[in-house]
Amino acid sequence: MRVITYGTFDLFHEGHRRLLERAKALGDYLIVGVTTENYDDSRGKLNVRQSLMDRIRNVQESGLADEIIIEEYEGQKVQDIQKHKVDIFAIGSDWLGKFDYLGDYCTVVYLDRTKGVSSTQLRNETAGVIRLGVIGSGRIAARFVAEARYVSGVSVEAVYSRRFESAKAFAERLELEWANENVSDLLKHVDAVYVATPHDTHYDYARQAIEAGVHVLCEKPMTLTRAQTTELFELAAQREVVLLEAVKTAFAPGFQRMVAVARSGSIGQVRSVDATFTKIVKEGRELHGEDGGSISELATYPLLAVIKLLGTDYTRVTTHSLRPEGSEVEVYSRIDIDYPHGIASARTGIGVKAEGELVVAGSRGYVYVPAPWWLTEYFETRFEDQSKNKKYYYKFDGDGLRYELAEFAFMIRNRTPESFKLRAAESIAMADIIERARTDAETFD
Ligand code: CTP
Repeated sequence: MRVITYGTFDLFHEGHRRLLERAKALGDYLIVGVTTENYDDSRGKLNVRQSLMDRIRNVQESGLADEIIIEEYEGQKVQDIQKHKVDIFAIGSDWLGKFDYLGDYCTVVYLDRTKGVSSTQLRNETAGVIRLGVIGSGRIAARFVAEARYVSGVSVEAVYSRRFESAKAFAERLELEWANENVSDLLKHVDAVYVATPHDTHYDYARQAIEAGVHVLCEKPMTLTRAQTTELFELAAQREVVLLEAVKTAFAPGFQRMVAVARSGSIGQVRSVDATFTKIVKEGRELHGEDGGSISELATYPLLAVIKLLGTDYTRVTTHSLRPEGSEVEVYSRIDIDYPHGIASARTGIGVKAEGELVVAGSRGYVYVPAPWWLTEYFETRFEDQSKNKKYYYKFDGDGLRYELAEFAFMIRNRTPESFKLRAAESIAMADIIERARTDAETFD
């Protein structure tokens, strides 16, 4: 009898060993499927600690598998079972009922899960939980706390808000341990903070946290000037803490794949990027004051696409903005960014609605990402010869904040000062373009 089972097998433990032993005992040949990182990502299993190779080694060293295969996509089990002539599919009882559909192809057996041990638990124990504080108690902060539940190894424990009443209400509603009256108190309780306050306060809060040796995940735009963003990164490097700009798109699996496909030569040389992000805002601080306007509010997303696709060696930034009569701020802007070998245009609007699409044009073809491209669930590569067109689909879980948090936690845990998904130089370039665009904006009434 041929038996098959599947798992992630991260930080191989007693529960895994016992599962494999019993699975093997069901027959005389055991095939074990180990999940790829990509598959785990796509099914929302973030924070797996060991690489695929290490996890395969774990299974190999157990001496229980006669054959090891890789599980890389949804639906693969149906194929594997037929291809490998499997008689019995075995899996832990935490999956009870979930694989009954495989009964059409073989016998399905659920084995009792070993109590008191799991990879999730081990991940928390071995590295300790990262204690997080939230600065700010607005809508985005609340969404962040909800999303943090999907990332293992982190726990949101404290909140600070300018108004203590709001912090208290927030802590109560979201069941956080601490509501703090000042930032320095909050910094005592935590290893890392998420800064989710109005733009003009980011710099001070981030600085204070870094100086206290606390890691910082800072809402976008980190600051509105090149000088301030540069200074924060320099300070973080000095203090050896992680500083990351919370641009969720940068960490989303679909967006990363889109950038990789576009830059792999499949559409030739990338020559042009057109990215648009608009949102109708009827009221709120975006419409007022010095830091208001569509550029400070929204430019980070289109600029991320521009910088990821064309780089940071731009030579010129020219901006056209629209400020209707009676408006305190620009409500629609087009930022043109010139490169030695390409041109880009980032459009933002808070009082104008446009199609939020992204087009990456190359010398052989182009990538088309429909709205909402910043969530990147889908994109196409398109060519003169349409028979070469290709469609790509990805999953984007929740509202995406879990991806940036998972990356932030990974960096802290592995003492990685920089993520290739969003480098310091890229955040600095975005701040630089935002600063120039806001200063240079040509205004038409
Ligand atoms: N398993 C088990 N007993 C445990 C833990 C896991 O029998 N205490 C089984 C699972 O049911 C599955 C296999 O081991 O059949 C591989 O599970 P995997 O997802 O890799 O391990 P977990 O420890 O459950 O991982 P996580 O905590 O990340 O969900």
